[in-house]
Amino acid sequence: MTHSLRTPDLMIPDRPDPAWLSSPGDAGGAAVDDVIRVRGGTRMTGTVHVVGAKNSALKLMAAALLAPGRSVITNVPRITDIAIMGEVLRRLGCGVRFDADDPVDPMVAYGGVPRSRSVTIDVPETPGIDADCDLVRRLRASICVLGPLLARRGTVRVAHPGGDAIGSRGLDMHIAGLTRMGAEISGERGCVVATAPHGLRGTEIVLDFPSVGATENLVMAAVLAQGTTVIDNAAREPEIVDICTMLQQMGALIDGAGTSTLTVVGVPGLHPVRHATVGDRIVAGTWAFGAAMTRGDVTVTGASPAFLDIALDKLVSAGALVETRRDAFRVRMVDRPRAVDVVTLPYPGFATDLLPMAIGLAAVSDGASLITENIFDGRFMFANEMMRLGADIQTDGHHAVVRGRQRLSGALVRATDIRAGAGLLIAGLCTEGVTEVSQVHHVDRGYPDFVADLRALGVEVERGGAADGGISLGR
Ligand code: EPU
Repeated sequence: MTHSLRTPDLMIPDRPDPAWLSSPGDAGGAAVDDVIRVRGGTRMTGTVHVVGAKNSALKLMAAALLAPGRSVITNVPRITDIAIMGEVLRRLGCGVRFDADDPVDPMVAYGGVPRSRSVTIDVPETPGIDADCDLVRRLRASICVLGPLLARRGTVRVAHPGGDAIGSRGLDMHIAGLTRMGAEISGERGCVVATAPHGLRGTEIVLDFPSVGATENLVMAAVLAQGTTVIDNAAREPEIVDICTMLQQMGALIDGAGTSTLTVVGVPGLHPVRHATVGDRIVAGTWAFGAAMTRGDVTVTGASPAFLDIALDKLVSAGALVETRRDAFRVRMVDRPRAVDVVTLPYPGFATDLLPMAIGLAAVSDGASLITENIFDGRFMFANEMMRLGADIQTDGHHAVVRGRQRLSGALVRATDIRAGAGLLIAGLCTEGVTEVSQVHHVDRGYPDFVADLRALGVEVERGGAADGGISLGR
């Protein structure tokens, strides 16, 4: 097995910590043309430990910008997106250092490298205001520096992150909310330029849709605004609660985290903190679906099953046995899964990020499933890849009808986004033969060392360069 150190897609100069390169999940640690091959027919069995949520840690890093001084965020996943976010902050003048988490997470025992790290962020008195770098376009989440920098500096320029393989992904709610708070916002050569010449002021904002990113940006802007901001129809995701908890520890006054109405009373300043990232419910859910799809028996630790209520209920309806504890759960599937319908919705609904896994499950279930996607207009784009594995899928707008088959067949497929890549690899375990997934740099963006986790669950899996022949599984 080889891990190429070529970095054709991501050149991040001046990294102070060369050890950061040592895992395929790290920026630059793997080539964009890496592939992963899995052999079908394996039941996933064993235990996996899940570390902090990508979609929380990225925003917690941006929230650190709100207070000068040293903040430390622990249980941060060792993935490419986090490395990019670290670089975004460095280019805004912050010192950013990644260290081993203390205590080191238990995955080190069987995976070789820890899945999580702590990140120390030294924020200057006057952070930069220009996040217009190539990195922002590569990491949509970096738009979340907009709120904190506008609050701290009164002016900011951030590249428009654009759409991606799951859909068009607008910014109108971010912009409308900040405008109501007194910001003047314009578009300029692919950038969002925001200024608040008279400072941000509290106001009432009703979001058209409970957007995760808009809620986060608006909360981060509101904590330092003058007066009280009420955000109605706010997102309720556990990652929103996590960022509100960190902000409260920094001295922010926020009420209603985890509900649809957030009330934020602005304060003149915040102080830095140490905060542990909430466990990744999407990674945990990926393994839960993997257990069900492969008729395996998987225990997942490190993430609360309470954050996966509906997803785990779906697995029970499909015939799985699910046992839950506070920060762990076990999913067992003995017989062929039964078809279940799934509708994605904002939290606490079924997470859109688990849609590829739901389609994978439907593809091998007994009966037909209706899968409805309500969050992203392009989420079904990966369905063609799933069909290459023999899945019977018909899409129409935001619906897909999936007629289950006893077995899929191994094929060469392409990861189109993070979750599609993970879903395809797990679907590959339900095939006869070998499945090769290319462009697995997408998977590295969200899953720390997916291959080691698969291997720990008994899967025959190899990773290598597409062209270098460095992997040994036969077809
Ligand atoms: N939207 C707008 N205008 C806006 C904001 C959002 O039209 O101003 C639309 C989007 O285009 C999308 C929908 O509203 O169709 C939902 O977007 P939302 O803002 O809720 O999502 P996000 O903040 O862009 C985060 C996660 C996604 C996850 C969604 C939904 C991060 C970095 N990303 O995206 O995660 O799917 O919430 O839960 O937090 C992933 O991890 O693979 C991923 C895509």
